[in-house]
Amino acid sequence: MTNATEFPSCARKPEPDNILELQNVRAGYSESRVLWGVDMTVQQGRITTVMGRNGAGKTTLMRAIMGLVRTKDPIRYCREEIQNRSTYKRARKGIAYVPQGREIIPKLTVYENILIGTEARSDSIRSFNEDEIYGLFPVLKDFRHRQGGNLSGGQQQQLAIARALAGNPRLLILDEPTEGIQPSVTLEIAGVLNKLAERGLTILLVEQKLDFARRLTDRYYIMERGRIIKQAHKNEMDFEELKTYLSV
Ligand SMILES: Nc1ncnc2c1ncn2[C@@H]1O[C@H](COP(=O)(O)OP(=O)(O)OP(=O)(O)O)[C@@H](O)[C@H]1O
Ligand SMILES: [Mg+2]
Repeated sequence: MTNATEFPSCARKPEPDNILELQNVRAGYSESRVLWGVDMTVQQGRITTVMGRNGAGKTTLMRAIMGLVRTKDPIRYCREEIQNRSTYKRARKGIAYVPQGREIIPKLTVYENILIGTEARSDSIRSFNEDEIYGLFPVLKDFRHRQGGNLSGGQQQQLAIARALAGNPRLLILDEPTEGIQPSVTLEIAGVLNKLAERGLTILLVEQKLDFARRLTDRYYIMERGRIIKQAHKNEMDFEELKTYLSV
């Protein structure tokens, strides 16, 4: 992960390209519809952030992108429709997902947790670049033999991101990485995500904390009741208006 070639672009073009495109995506859980037709594009090499109140459908949207909730509507990744692909295939194609609540495996060590992320690699390599991963998250090197469950919330979040990176993704999806985490670790995570974006990794972020989002975001999508009600580039966003769409 020392340079952009570690995160190969789909199109291998220098100019921004849409790595992910959603078209009128509808999805939900058994009888209850949550997403009511979401259109969204994620530009290669940029940080795109989805914001909105609790229950707006942000997590459901990320789960639809990963194939953890079903949709028949077009989700294009690197111009290819993936809505009928399994979650495993999507991961192998380079989409990494850090779920809300992190979901690391508490009984496994830090090292073993990161190793699990290599299952998503499209090649057969089942090791990760320790210098790179531990360079981004030095605390994980210190604690590499500890059980994941013994880490603090912030450290577990860093572990979840490290595990995702071990799969060598093109697109990293993070669902509320700052939830329940102390401000100092939040700043560290923002620093790492900016570094990754500079190296060419595309990031799709779900976030409720505006301070954190503003450190990172290139384009905002605001969700309300399962719909995108506003989108704007960071230079065009009215942040006072944006605050009215967030939970206080
Ligand atoms: N597994 C599930 N089964 C049924 N309904 C669900 C399930 N998960 C979420 N929902 C419902 O779907 C709606 C959207 O939930 P979702 O978790 O996507 O929202 P969110 O924007 O991520 O919220 P938060 O900010 O609290 O994480 C809510 O009404 C929620 O109750
Ligand atoms: Mg959520």
